[in-house]
Amino acid sequence: MKRIKIADVLSNPKVGDSILVKGWVRSFRANRFVALNDGSTIKNIQAVVDFENLDEALLKRITTGSAVGITGVLVESQGGGQAVEIEVSNIEIIGDANPEEIQKTVMQPKRHSMEFLREQAHLRFRTNTFGAVFRIRHAVSYAIHKYFNDAGYYYLHTPIITGSDAEGAGEMFRVSTLDPATPPLTEDGQVDYSQDFFGKAVNLTVSGQLEAELGALALGQVYTFGPTFRAENSNTSRHLAEFWMIEPEVAFNDLKDNMDLTEDFLKFIVNYILTNCADDLQFLNDRDVKEQQSKPQNERNELTLIERLEFVRDNDFKRLTYTEAIEVLQRSKPYKKKKFKYEVAWGVDLHSEHERYLVEKEFKCPVILSDYPAEIKAFYMRQNDDDKTVAAMDVLFPGIGEIVGGSQREERLGVLKKKCADFDIEEEELDWYLDTRRFGTVPHAGFGLGFERMVMFVTGMSNIRDVIPFPRTPQNAEF
Ligand code: 4AD
Ligand code: MG
Repeated sequence: MKRIKIADVLSNPKVGDSILVKGWVRSFRANRFVALNDGSTIKNIQAVVDFENLDEALLKRITTGSAVGITGVLVESQGGGQAVEIEVSNIEIIGDANPEEIQKTVMQPKRHSMEFLREQAHLRFRTNTFGAVFRIRHAVSYAIHKYFNDAGYYYLHTPIITGSDAEGAGEMFRVSTLDPATPPLTEDGQVDYSQDFFGKAVNLTVSGQLEAELGALALGQVYTFGPTFRAENSNTSRHLAEFWMIEPEVAFNDLKDNMDLTEDFLKFIVNYILTNCADDLQFLNDRDVKEQQSKPQNERNELTLIERLEFVRDNDFKRLTYTEAIEVLQRSKPYKKKKFKYEVAWGVDLHSEHERYLVEKEFKCPVILSDYPAEIKAFYMRQNDDDKTVAAMDVLFPGIGEIVGGSQREERLGVLKKKCADFDIEEEELDWYLDTRRFGTVPHAGFGLGFERMVMFVTGMSNIRDVIPFPRTPQNAEF
């Protein structure tokens, strides 16, 4: 008999049919009720065993975590809790799981701490929470490709190994085949990267943007969706050393078009998850409600997870400039009461505490901040007419802070060359990039969405390590 997935059985139950399901036992109660899960849905199927007809040795092997194949007839359920169940005619043990050893794992069905679950990231897929998170992670990824494909964008694969530091922050992982114990040296004692694999120093990419721009200036509209690496030593709940980023880039778009695109795109993803991931979302919603209750009153979210998603989908994002945001912050209560840890002054970068104040206390909705001081943003952002600010934008989300960073790009060769000089970037290194400004340059704009931050938002998970299968953070590259 051909195996049928539990999701298919439950979404279209054909009472009276003989079926075969395969999966992992979540629990086995009273030598009679098997709860089986195969990953196709958060829901388990109940299989009812007539233990008197089953061999005792076989019964013993039906334990939490074991893999079994169950054949039987689908019937209407006698008990509450499920509409249908399987009347078992045969159980085949596919893979045993030692009950004593299971006790030490996250598969033991009880509440585990997030830290313990992370230590067993190889097994946490077997839990309801992580099953739901990774099914939704997949759906977010699919929604992103669908959005851009339907709008006529081309998916561009930009290099992972690169010599350029797009963001200019210098937080890169070196890629080298030189022997670190005895690297060849130049005359002045520096490591001689001309003898390295690529004949020069290269790193893992911090962004595919510069290469995406080259594509956009011929293909019109492109997007990247790939792994991104940052060697910043930020041990926070929002930073990974290896994360995924989506970077659309569009010829002829200005900053306003860029903001409109971002808002439409983010709302599309949220709506896709609301429409297509109802069971997983309901589970995470209930989980989030419990988590909120365990927090102090003033830190609780007034809205449930599902309400938060509906709110983002249905309401306009608040748009204001950096300069206006500084004014709002300087009029705020925490500023006047000296509650902010970091300085609030024009020209100084905003910190997470300021961003979260704007989103969570002042406007209570997603915020797009634009037109930041040139000094605190990357070299490629387009200079505004005031000569002080650039056409940058950051999207700030409740509970997350910055989720998107983007800008209109500097398309004027002369201005861009001057920016390179201001930022100490050697023109020769970026000659390929400057070429697009030499030959038929046009206004263009794009942004980068932090994929894991988006998954955090739609799943309600509060730590970024819990929305990527195997997180890489400082001092941690397990699995
Ligand atoms: O703001 P960032 O640094 O922007 C860029 O890299 C631009 N090149 C994007 C573009 O215009 N094409 O990063 C974009 C987003 C951030 O808003 C954040 O969501 C995410 O990437 N991000 C991180 N996510 C997880 N861990 C980290 N260490 C991250 N650093 C940035
Ligand atoms: Mg940024």
